[in-house]
Amino acid sequence: MQSDLISTSLHERFAQAGRVLVLTGAGISAESGVPTFRGGGNTTVWKGMPFDVISSAMMMQRDLPAVWEWFDYRRSILQSLRPNRGHLELARWADRFPEFTLVTQNVDGLHQAAGSRDVIELHGSVWRARCVMCRTNYEIIPEVKRLDACLDCGAWLRPDVVLFGEMLPPGRFEMAAERAADCQLCFVIGTSALVYPAASIPEIAKAAGAFVCEVNPERTPLSDLCDEVLTGKAGDVLPLISKS
Ligand SMILES: NC(=O)c1ccc[n+]([C@@H]2O[C@H](COP(=O)([O-])OP(=O)(O)OC[C@H]3O[C@@H](n4cnc5c(N)ncnc54)[C@H](O)[C@@H]3O)[C@@H](O)[C@H]2O)c1
Ligand SMILES: [Zn+2]
Repeated sequence: MQSDLISTSLHERFAQAGRVLVLTGAGISAESGVPTFRGGGNTTVWKGMPFDVISSAMMMQRDLPAVWEWFDYRRSILQSLRPNRGHLELARWADRFPEFTLVTQNVDGLHQAAGSRDVIELHGSVWRARCVMCRTNYEIIPEVKRLDACLDCGAWLRPDVVLFGEMLPPGRFEMAAERAADCQLCFVIGTSALVYPAASIPEIAKAAGAFVCEVNPERTPLSDLCDEVLTGKAGDVLPLISKS
């Protein structure tokens, strides 16, 4: 991939921007070996149940241990995977701009593993449990037995992940939307941009006057809205942008 694929305008904006926001989706983790949703992850069947059944609000009500078993399995796979060049590049971007916001739809924790801090995780994380009553969060540490019940109130813990049929946690989207409305440069990386309200974040940035750039090997419903579309894998494209 050639660095001249990136426009002079984007290079200049990248060099001068004060407020940058990045929205990532499953595609940023594809090069780490995490299946994307539409690239096969949604066809996963666990103990005879399709992905969207075992990961649903209904299953949470019906059989919490089964939901935990599925998330314990997912963590056991993720534990051996490492952040890729895309994640690592974004972790460096945080030190490059006076204000940098990383918003992700991913639940895999790979941005944090790469060194990113203050990530807005719209859909939660498989590496956290949450009390069903008082909402206290508990980090889940690899190789350490996770808690079943809340230490504060004794209620059951559940995965801190937004399941099918659930709303986003209060405040999280609002914070991302506020930052989007105030950014100068917005990147949309590795998302099919079909899941709302996440997909509205670049729309908010664009409407507020930001320059919006997409990084994806394929076109998406957001491509037409973008000022620049960089066709390629995040791990190849992001280091080229940074060379500005
Ligand atoms: N890693 C994870 O945590 C994970 C994985 C699968 C699904 N999910 C969940 O499923 C939903 C799926 O929506 P989504 O838009 O994030 O994913 P998606 O699977 O719908 O879309 C993935 C996008 O990434 C692109 N892509 C593939 N390889 C890429 C690469 N190397 N570099 C850049 N882009 C690449 C694809 O062309 C596609 O547009 C989300 O809500 C998310 O929470 C999360
Ligand atoms: Zn509690």
